[in-house]
Amino acid sequence: MMFSRLFGKKTKAPAEEKQHPGTLTTHTVEVRWDKWTPPGEKDVRSPCPAINSLANHGILPHSGKGITKAVAVEALTQAFNVDPKIANVFAASGIFANPDHNAHSFDLNHVSKHNYIEHDASLSRDDAAFGGGEKFHEESFDMVLKTYRETHSGKTDDEIMTDWVTAGHARWARILASKKKHDEAEKTWIYGIKEAIMSYGETSLYLNLLGKDGVAPLKWVKIFFGKFEYGQGERSVYLRMSLEQERLPYAEGWRPPTKFDQADLNHGYSEMMKGGEHGAEEAKLIGIGTLVGLKATILGLGASFIKTPSAH
Ligand code: HEM
Repeated sequence: MMFSRLFGKKTKAPAEEKQHPGTLTTHTVEVRWDKWTPPGEKDVRSPCPAINSLANHGILPHSGKGITKAVAVEALTQAFNVDPKIANVFAASGIFANPDHNAHSFDLNHVSKHNYIEHDASLSRDDAAFGGGEKFHEESFDMVLKTYRETHSGKTDDEIMTDWVTAGHARWARILASKKKHDEAEKTWIYGIKEAIMSYGETSLYLNLLGKDGVAPLKWVKIFFGKFEYGQGERSVYLRMSLEQERLPYAEGWRPPTKFDQADLNHGYSEMMKGGEHGAEEAKLIGIGTLVGLKATILGLGASFIKTPSAH
């Protein structure tokens, strides 16, 4: 099946409910957006701003540890209204990442494993060859912001609203920069079909999560990814929060999407491709050859990847 083909097969657990020693079984998913605390010293986090935010809000265990598939599915469906099929695939990918192949839970930092889900050319993380991974990386994310700022010159960040086409260009800017950085340092850069699917997927995910048809305040995107800049009057409210936010901007007016399924993700891919002057170049880069091939891959493979139930 597609999922196991991309990530490698893992033996089916004998019984889903059977817990591996050491897993956390006591966490109850409670969606309270007003609760938020930064990770403590012993807490672990991942390269994913979504699951990190859920842990910071206490919806996933704040420790980031011992997350069972059931807890991950419940958190994603209840907090974000993610379609259960998609939530199951995501949750299973977390379990697959656990280096203990008998485990039925994962810790957030397990998903940092390079070239599994974590890949080069992330929006907000440096590449693995340069020590990147879990932590927010200012320089990388500033490239994303630069694309939004150039498209909306004359506006402040607080005035800029996102859109699919600009988000697609920001994604491409990161890919080019990541390639250049590897080439210059003579390091191996990996960006193929799987990474392209992930990359389109992640941009579609964040704009579906934060926006209405791709339109969200850029400020919310910054809060979600972890680049929060204090505005006037905000300092006292947020003083106790670290600069690395990774939170959902509920206080600023964000509300979870009422529907978050494959059709929404596909819509994001198609809209991004409308602004895809770089599409042909990307197609060549990942060895697909033509723009038509790229579109078929992202819309076809990307979708079946999510639709396929996991082996767990
Ligand atoms: C259990 C569920 C999930 C797991 C295990 C997971 C895992 C990951 C991993 C490993 C990455 C790093 C990829 C990279 O190298 O850039 C990532 C990135 C990302 N994830 Fe998740 N994810 C999950 C759910 C979600 C959900 C529900 C959303 C949004 C609604 C989301 C949004 C993102 C975004 C936007 C990125 C890109 C970050 C960047 O490029 O800087 N993820 N995720």
